Amino acid sequence: MAEPLAPQRHLFDIPDDVAYLNCAYFSPKPYVVLEAGRRALTIQSHPWEVEPRHFFEPPETLRREFATLVGGDVDGVAFVPSVSYGVGIAARNIDVGPGRSIVVADEQFPSDLYPWRTEIAQQGGSIVTVEHPGTGDWTDPIIDAIDDSTAVVVAPACHWTDGKAFDLIAIGAAARDVGAALVVDASQSVGAVPFDVGAVDPDFLVSVGYKWQLGPYGYGYMWIAPRHRSGTPIEDTWIGRKGAEDFSRLVDYTDEYRPGARRFDVGEYSNFGLVPMATAALQFINELTPARIAATLKPLTSAIEHGARDLGLDPVPAADRLPNLIGVRFPSGIPEGLRDRLAADRVYVSVRGDAVRVAPNVYNTMEDIERLLRAFASVAG
Ligand SMILES: Cc1ncc(COP(=O)(O)O)c(C=O)c1O
Repeated sequence: MAEPLAPQRHLFDIPDDVAYLNCAYFSPKPYVVLEAGRRALTIQSHPWEVEPRHFFEPPETLRREFATLVGGDVDGVAFVPSVSYGVGIAARNIDVGPGRSIVVADEQFPSDLYPWRTEIAQQGGSIVTVEHPGTGDWTDPIIDAIDDSTAVVVAPACHWTDGKAFDLIAIGAAARDVGAALVVDASQSVGAVPFDVGAVDPDFLVSVGYKWQLGPYGYGYMWIAPRHRSGTPIEDTWIGRKGAEDFSRLVDYTDEYRPGARRFDVGEYSNFGLVPMATAALQFINELTPARIAATLKPLTSAIEHGARDLGLDPVPAADRLPNLIGVRFPSGIPEGLRDRLAADRVYVSVRGDAVRVAPNVYNTMEDIERLLRAFASVAG
C-alpha cells in the first residue's frame, strides 16, 4: 500500500470556509495549472511567436503524461473534447448489428449510452441494461450478462453516481472470451486511483480531463488499443494526416494518417490555451502518483462511511467501491433541508439518483469530512 500524502490544500485556490467534496463534478485546479493557463493566454496574443512545431510538440508532451497515467504507450493516446466524442469513435469502430448486443450498467452517464443508441438505430442490435446490484459491486452482474451475442461491454471503473466498483480486469477477460470489445469511461477514476491498460486491455478507454484529472473543461483523452489504430475517425482533420507538420505542403492532399491513434485527435487539438493547463495538471498528478492519491483518499471516504453508518444512513461499503467516491443513501430518501444546510455551511457535494455523492481529493482534510457529517446529522432525524 502506498504512503498517504501530506495535505495538499495550499497548492489549490480554495477558501478556508469551503469544504469542497465534489471532485466528481468538477475539480478545483492547482495553482500550477492556473499559472500555465495565464502563460498560455499571453502566448496566444503573440501569434508571431507561434511556429508550426508548437502545434505538435506540446501536445506530444501531454500525450506522454496521459500515457504514463494509464500505463499505456504514447502512440495510443488521442485527444477528444468530451466523452461523448470518444465513445462516438468507439461506436463507429466496433461492429454491432442485428442479433448482437451492447452490455451497459443501469444509469450510466448519458455520454456512454447515446452513441450506442445511434449506432443500433442505424446498424441494428440491442442494448442489455444490467440492474444496480443492491449489495456487492457490479462485476458479477456485468459478467453474467455477457454471452455469445455480446459485441461490446461499456463499463467504468466505478459508477459515477455512488462509486460502486467494476473489476475491469475480470470484465475485460469475460468480454474477450466471447470476442466482445471493452469500452471504458474512466472519467471518475483516472487521476485518483491507479489504472493500467496493460492489465485491463480495453479496446477504447476515454476520460474527461476536468474532474480527477485536474485539468480544464473541454479537453479529454483516449487510449486506443493497437488493434483499432487503423480505424476510422469521426472527423476528417488536416492535422491528423501524414505530413501535416509541413504547413507549406498542406494542399498535397493525402489519404494517409499520422502514426498510432493520432488520426482520432479532435480538430484543433493543439489548443494553445488548454494544452499547457492539461499538461501541468497531469504532471502534478503523475508526480504525486495515483497510488499515493488513492492512499490519501481512502481514510477520508472511510471516515464518511463510518460516520454516515453511525447516523443510521446507508453508505456504499469500502469493499464495493473505489477509494475516491462514496454514495450515501438516506433511509427515506434525500431529506428536505439537506441542500439548504449544506449550502449554508459551504459544504459541496452532489445528489445523483437517490445517493448523496461525496468525492474528496488531496486538498480535503478530516475537518471537511466532519463538517459534512455534522450537516448529515442535522437533517438525519
Ligand atoms: C462518468 C462520466 N462520464 C462523462 C462525463 C462527461 O461527459 P462529456 O464529456 O460527454 O460531457 C461525466 C460528467 O459528469 C461523467 O460523470
